Amino acid sequence: MAPLILRPSSPAHGGASVARDDGKVWLVSYALPGEVVEAEPRGRQGGVAVAATTRVIEASPHRVNAPCPYFGDCGGCQLQHAAYAHQLALKRQVVEEAWARAGLRLPPDAAVLGMDDPWRYRIRGEFEAVAGGGGWSFGFHRMRSHSVLAVDSCLIHDIRIEHALPAFAQAANEMRLTGLQNLLLTVEPQGRGLLWRMRFQGREPAWPRDDFAHRVAELLPESTLLDDAMTLELWDLTFRVRSDTFVQTNYRQMLVLYRTALDMLQAKAEERVIDLYAGIGTISVAAARDAGGVTAIEENPHAVQLGRLNARINSARVEYLPGKVEAVLKGIRLGRFQAVILDPPRAGCEPAALAELIRLGAERIVYISCEPSTHARDLMRLVQGGYRIRRAAIVDMFPQTYHIESVALLERS
Ligand SMILES: C[S@@+](CC[C@H](N)C(=O)[O-])C[C@H]1O[C@@H](n2cnc3c(N)ncnc32)[C@H](O)[C@@H]1O
Repeated sequence: MAPLILRPSSPAHGGASVARDDGKVWLVSYALPGEVVEAEPRGRQGGVAVAATTRVIEASPHRVNAPCPYFGDCGGCQLQHAAYAHQLALKRQVVEEAWARAGLRLPPDAAVLGMDDPWRYRIRGEFEAVAGGGGWSFGFHRMRSHSVLAVDSCLIHDIRIEHALPAFAQAANEMRLTGLQNLLLTVEPQGRGLLWRMRFQGREPAWPRDDFAHRVAELLPESTLLDDAMTLELWDLTFRVRSDTFVQTNYRQMLVLYRTALDMLQAKAEERVIDLYAGIGTISVAAARDAGGVTAIEENPHAVQLGRLNARINSARVEYLPGKVEAVLKGIRLGRFQAVILDPPRAGCEPAALAELIRLGAERIVYISCEPSTHARDLMRLVQGGYRIRRAAIVDMFPQTYHIESVALLERS
């Protein structure tokens, strides 16, 4: 059979590029727009034919050699073959297209805020356990697969996380542990703390946890092994973080994201702010420095507990209302809040949450999102509900990967 030759012309969300061949649409991974590549069909995804690049015939001037030896096999990164400035340009184009599909125009002055050094930025990593001839090791799912690729290094994680992996594997092998599933590691950006959580397949068996932790600690003398909580410093604020609650994985860009969002929010001392999907309260506490008070809504009871503690540690005027945003907002009266900040998970907001938000009638809404398609969809609903988009920005929280974080400021028109 003749090889498939494709000429991708635009980026797709997910890191692949879109090519049209004889009227057929292909999603081509590891190809950049403007290139000519030889590709191999790899089935279908969401109704679209998928192909993987096997040879680059005409390379884009933005193509670079991916520095990671696992790139192409590992499911973690999709964009290492693009120069970093070009990754940012591609992400902007993906956001523009998502907004256009929803009927919106991305403001032309929307900045794309990238990193000076787009490597080793992750302070949290989740690694799958895999048993091989030499015993346990840890790694990532392969691209579009449930099989696990064991790794010795990962260039987007903090080096301390990379160094910890063989120590956990060695201790697990020495103690002949069985049934491991995954390992979650989070490091303190400023301190020596290394927070860990290991999961087993099925229910956690009785196992010598303390002895295991002791052995890992021996193998990692540079770190302080923590199994409960760790500290995260943010400007002059201090937060406790646990493994069962969300934390922004890119610490350096978290500062940029929050600064951007708080600049858009412009909370004033006489205003009350509501922070939806508040997690452990990092944004709430930071916003409370400017505002008269912040009400945080969050459904995860562990995050609510930690959020209340974080408010106390920082003497911040933050109160938590536990529960789902779409339910809790129903009990809030019109006009109570002048400004809203929200940061939902990838799925975005429930229609009921958006309807309540529109009913509340706050003057300003700052909407942070990690998924451009649901961001654009929800922004359009808010526009239909009487808001106007004033500003937007893209903050690159996930260099080398396809993930995109965007922020928008809406004002009631
Ligand atoms: C992307 S995180 C944002 C956390 C926080 N803003 C931060 O920057 O650390 C989303 C949070 O929303 C919470 N969540 C998800 N769905 C929710 C819902 N329907 N109502 C309330 N909270 C929800 C999750 O538990 C998680 O803490």
